[in-house]
This record gives sequence, structure tokens and C-alpha cells, in this order.
Amino acid sequence: MDTLESSYGAVSIRLVRSRDARTLQHELLTNRSWLVPWEATNPEGAVSMDMRSGIRRLLQQYRDGMGVPFVMEYDGEIAGQLNVWGIARGSLSSATIGYWVSERFAGRGITPTAVALATDLCFEKLHLHRMEICIRPENAASIRVVEKLGFRYEGFRRRYIHINGDWRDHHAFALTREDVPRGLLHRWVTGQTPQDASRVTNGDQSSMA
Ligand SMILES: CC(C)(COP(=O)(O)OP(=O)(O)OC[C@H]1O[C@@H](n2cnc3c(N)ncnc32)[C@H](O)[C@@H]1OP(=O)(O)O)[C@@H](O)C(=O)NCCC(=O)NCCS
Repeated sequence: MDTLESSYGAVSIRLVRSRDARTLQHELLTNRSWLVPWEATNPEGAVSMDMRSGIRRLLQQYRDGMGVPFVMEYDGEIAGQLNVWGIARGSLSSATIGYWVSERFAGRGITPTAVALATDLCFEKLHLHRMEICIRPENAASIRVVEKLGFRYEGFRRRYIHINGDWRDHHAFALTREDVPRGLLHRWVTGQTPQDASRVTNGDQSSMA
């Protein structure tokens, strides 16, 4: 699992390294108001903002086969993080993707490209079968990411993840390998993304009220 990196155009993903700590810590601290509404929090109390120990923990999870912690780069500069977490093997063979970019990198298509690259690596190199992305209904920018890539809407999860200090409702979107036989990036860049796959069904929208 040591060649987990990939790129397309100016966007690349690679495993996070200990020496990224200073850059990532700076980005997290200078993007607080941008990130806080969407950031996972600890229901037991405050989370440490020490990036060095955070990276150590992520790399340990990687060695344990539980996750893959990528950084996203744009023209060689760190733009944010993309974390594959909750890897389940065997008859489930699935994982979940989370991500953020610094505000100054937003709107350049970095995240959808990185999600496509990561999904293809997970399917091809890690032999996972299903990738999931869970998003708060309020997070229009993130929902655009799954719409662009045609992740399928799979349902509403009430008070699912602890975000910004409370349990928040999420929409779940997913893809399986069969959806993208030639890869997710290929499907996207060749204009074959299904247009309505990510549409939230009415019943689920009204249940949020
Ligand atoms: C969600 C997020 C990762 C999207 O990343 P990105 O690399 O900007 O993705 P895209 O370039 O494809 O932009 C997606 C949408 O963001 C919105 N957007 C673009 N520029 C923006 C800006 N400067 N500020 C706010 N939103 C912007 C647009 O609606 C865009 O869709 P469009 O291309 O159809 O106009 C990014 O907005 C982010 O990091 N947000 C804060 C953390 C977060 O929400 N993480 C996800 C939790 S599920």
C-alpha cells in the first residue's frame, strides 16, 4: 500500500506525511470560520488541534488498514485533506470519504477531482467495493461535489455524525465498483455522469423539517 498517490491535471493526492503538520495546522487555524460548521467534533469534549499527533493517529489507522489519509495538492501546494475512513473488509468492503480545502482553493474543482482519484485507488488498489460520502443537508458546496461525480443518493441519516458541537442529520451518497467499470474519473471527464443520481428524494427532504 505504499504507492497510494494519483494525479489529474493540477490536482494530486498522496498520503499525508509527518512533515505536512506545520502547513496543515496553519491552514486549519487560518480557515476556522470556513471549516467549523462542517468539522467533526468529539461528543466527549474538546478535540486536540495538535496536527502532529493527529497525523500520527491517521497514519497508525492507515497501517492498521482502517483508513487512508490523503492530502490534496493543487500545483504542488497543499490545498486540503481527503480522508478515507471506516474501512470495512470482507463481505462489506466499503469505506467513507471526508474532505476539506482551504477557502482560497475553493471553486477550482479540486475536491471532485481528488474524490474521483481516491475512489479509483480504493476500488483498484485496495479492492474496496463501495465508497460513501455523508453530507449535512445545509452543505450546498459539498453536495455539488457528489452531484458532479454522480454519487447515488441512498438516504437520510438522522443525527448521524457529531459536527460543530452536536449530532447532525446527514444525507448519504454512495458508489459501487459496478457503477464505474472504467473508473470514476474516466466516467466524469468523458461526460458520462448520470445527471439525477444525487437527487434527494422528496420523502427524505420533508423528514428533515
Ligand atoms: C465542500 C468543499 C470541500 C468543496 O470543495 P471544492 O474543491 O471547492 O469543490 P468545487 O470546486 O467542485 O466546488 C463545489 C461548489 O462549491 C461552491 N463554491 C465554489 N467556490 C466557492 C467559494 N469561494 N466559497 C464557497 N463556495 C464555493 C460552488 O457551489 C461549487 O459548485 P459549482 O462548481 O457548481 O459552482 C469545500 O467547499 C470545503 O472545503 N468546504 C468546507 C469544509 C466542508 O464542507 N467539507 C465537507 C464536509 S461533508
